[in-house]
This record gives sequence, C-alpha cells and structure tokens, in this order.
Amino acid sequence: MSIRKGDLVGRSPITRREALKWGAAGAGALAFGGVASAFQTKSFDVHIRLFASPVEAQILAGPTTSIYQYTARLLKGPKGTLKSLPGSILGPIIRLKRGQRVKIEFVNGLAEPTVTHFHGLHVPFAADGHPLNTVAPGGSWSHEFTVMNRAGTYWYHAHTDMRTGFQVNKGLAGLLIVEEDTERWLKLPSGSNDIPVVIQDKRFSASNQILHSTGSQSGHLGNTILINGVAGAALSVGTTDYRLRFLNGCNARILKLAWSNGMPMTVLGTDGGLLESPVEHPYLMLGPGERRDVYVDCSGYPEGTVFQLVSEAFQKGGAGSGTPAQGSHMSLMNVSVDYAFASSPFLPSTLRPYTKWSKGDTVNQGNPRVFGLEYMGMWTINGNVFELNNYTNDEMIQLNQLELWQIRNDLPQGFEQPHPIHFHGPQFQIVERTGDLESAWYDTVREGFVDDGWHDTVLAFTGERVEIATKWTDYQGLFLYHCHNLEHEDMGMMRNLFVHA
Ligand code: C2O
Ligand code: CU
Ligand code: CU
Repeated sequence: MSIRKGDLVGRSPITRREALKWGAAGAGALAFGGVASAFQTKSFDVHIRLFASPVEAQILAGPTTSIYQYTARLLKGPKGTLKSLPGSILGPIIRLKRGQRVKIEFVNGLAEPTVTHFHGLHVPFAADGHPLNTVAPGGSWSHEFTVMNRAGTYWYHAHTDMRTGFQVNKGLAGLLIVEEDTERWLKLPSGSNDIPVVIQDKRFSASNQILHSTGSQSGHLGNTILINGVAGAALSVGTTDYRLRFLNGCNARILKLAWSNGMPMTVLGTDGGLLESPVEHPYLMLGPGERRDVYVDCSGYPEGTVFQLVSEAFQKGGAGSGTPAQGSHMSLMNVSVDYAFASSPFLPSTLRPYTKWSKGDTVNQGNPRVFGLEYMGMWTINGNVFELNNYTNDEMIQLNQLELWQIRNDLPQGFEQPHPIHFHGPQFQIVERTGDLESAWYDTVREGFVDDGWHDTVLAFTGERVEIATKWTDYQGLFLYHCHNLEHEDMGMMRNLFVHA
C-alpha cells in the first residue's frame, strides 16, 4: 500500500473505472491484521443472507418499473430481525441488538458489480463495504461484525465505485435499526408507534422507468417522492404519540423537514442514536444520508385532522439536475388523524446522557485536520479525487486519539453549494459551525441544524466551516469518507482514511 500525495486532478473517469477492475481482482491481496478472520471460529447470533436482484415493481399506476432490490433471508437469529415493508422497493428493515455477533452474507444477483455498505455502523474494514470488496455478478461477500453502535436508525445501501448514485437510485437501500434494552426503559413510542420514514425523490420516464442524470455538478434531483419505497404514501395515525425515524435517502436533495401545521419538530435522536434530551426546532435541515428520530404527539388533534410533512424552501442549496430545484418547497407526505382513542402520551425529559467533547478535549485544538471541499473540474477533497486503495499522509489516522477536524466548504460563488460529508467508522460530535452566518439567506436554514448528539454525516452548508471531534477506535484499515451527494461521490468526492495503531 503506497503512501503518497496523489496528483489526480483531471484524471478521467475511464482511469477510475479501470482501477475498479483491478481492485476487484486484487482485493484478496489486502489484509488488515486478520480483523475478519478472528470471527471464523465463533458462532453468530444472527445470520442473514442478503440478495441484490433485478425485479419488476409496481410503483406507479400503469407499467411496472425495473428496479434493483435487496431481499433477505434469516438463517439464524431472533424472529423480527427482518421486516419487509409491504409494497416497498426498499430492502427489508434489518433489526439488530447491540452486542449481537452478525454475519450478513451478501449475494450479488445483478448483472453488474456491486458492494453493500452498512451506513453508520462501526465495523471492521472487511465488513464495511469498501469498493475494494466489490462483488462480481453471481459472487458473494460475507460481512461479519459485532454490533457496537448505540441504539438508533442506520441504513444500508450500494457503495459501488462510480455506480453508487445509479444503484441507490434504482432501489438498493434499506433501513437498519439497532436496539438496546436501555432504550426500551425510556418508554418512548414503540411497536406500531415507532415508524420509519425513508424519504427519497425519484424521477420516472413516460413508461415508468427510473431515470438518473449524472450530467450536472450538483447531483440528481427527482420530482416524485417515495416514502418507505412507496409512491403517494400517507401516514394514518391515531390520537396518540409516535416516534418517526426520518432518513434522507435521496441521492442529492437536501430536505428542510417541517410540519405544515406549524408544530415544531421535536428531535429525539440523530445519526448515532438518542440525544441527551429532546430538542425542538421549527424545521430540520437533513442532507442525504442523515437521520433524525422525531417525536410527534397527535393526541390533541380531532379525528379527521390532516396535515403534511413538507420540505420548506431554502436558499443557496446549489443548482442540481432536475426539478423541482434544490431548495424548493415540496410536499412529502400527508398525515391524517384517522382514529380517536384515549392515550397518555409521554415524552421523557432525559433520554440518553453521553460524554460531550469540546475542542479543548482534542489533541490538536488550534490546529485541526483540514478537509477542504474544492472544485477543480470535478469535486475534490483537499484537491484529490477517489483512489481505490490510496491515501495521503494527511489521511493517516491514529487509533484512540480524540482529534479536531475541520470541513471547509467556503468556495467562491459559482461553485458554492452544500455538501453532506460522511465518515465511515465511528460516530463523531459536531463542535462548531463558522462562516458567513450573518447573511440574510442563512436565516432560511439557520435553525435546522441539530448539532447535538452523535453523527456520521454532517451537512456542511454553503460557506460554512464545520468542526467535528472524532475518535477512531477498534478497527484498523481503510475507511471511506465522502460527500453523500451520491453524484458527487461517484465523481470522485471520496477518499480513504488509513486507520492505524
Ligand atoms: Cu451512506 Cu459511504 O455511505
Ligand atoms: Cu457510510
Ligand atoms: Cu458534495
């Protein structure tokens, strides 16, 4: 594995595609201290076989749509580990418990290579779904890991080099929920009152086929909203309280989630699980890849009440390919209060205390590790595009060290747009946002950032510098970081971190 500062600006996509071929063939040559083989003699608590296959789905009225879909079979593990959403194009919800030893055998039934990533999970390199471990058609890959994450809302999706945007847009995504008994003691809405809300924007041809456009510098935007993989979905509720798990599963669309009736968004949790206590925001900025768990109390509404989940208008979202434009008002889902009954809603004032990191706790306060988002004919990070198995000196990370990192999104006009930056590996904390925050346009997004709690993705909004505190633990090897605007990622706005002892 070479350690050098690559000079790759302007490298053609062809070169990157060739690198992928090489990487798939040479993947076996890479081994990181046997992190995966340590499992071989142990037994697993959960054993899942996960398939990606081409299928025909009835999404819209009229002709069926050719999609890619995850399906799964539970070979071992508690009942309820897998739950398919009726009529959905999404993969089944995978429900895991912290501490479980899990084996997910992925089988590629597609006619093209793919690799599956478990977004937000803290797992070894070999289980993470790095494009080095891309699976050829008909091939398989075994993801073996212990669930170390806090209870929360995670997800899985295709992560194929240069094809992530295409494959996710075509259907390869699903939710993964981690549970812990300690969370159950809080008595938050559970069971059928704990509802996933995966939001995606798609675009269809006249014959109902999923379209994907890569021809812009700001990503693919759709005009048809799918909720949990279903078009035209509505939420029917009763006069009680709910926990909604929002995932922005769009390729590039940034959401500004709000309730049309003026109710605040009461946030319970972020990417990495519950907050210390619930917080209210008038709206939530949610970049692709991010999650928010939200509490809704419908007990005060008369039966027959209807309101909507919307994405409100905001400024400086970037151009985007497709309509409605990025930052347009969009109606996402109707919520109707359909049945009345007596209930006693309860929102605990304390959820899940955790140790808060400050700049002063980091080993490099005053000298953060910088990740500059730049545009040089293609989207880059510190001037580099993705290289399958390469990294720079600045991308070498020491285990067990709390560091301050700064994501700089301060590009000049013409290139300015938000970037949802995602790090594989451990969850981090957001410690500061700076930048041109006094401008009037910033008032259209200002109150939507939930920076408390644990995160694996952070929306570095236009003009911002965002500082995070992060500590890598347990696993050595190559871990990706990238823009979760999937077209940016595919263009090369992705890099490796090399994590070492
Ligand atoms: Cu959700 Cu590297 O991705
Ligand atoms: Cu990820
Ligand atoms: Cu980006």
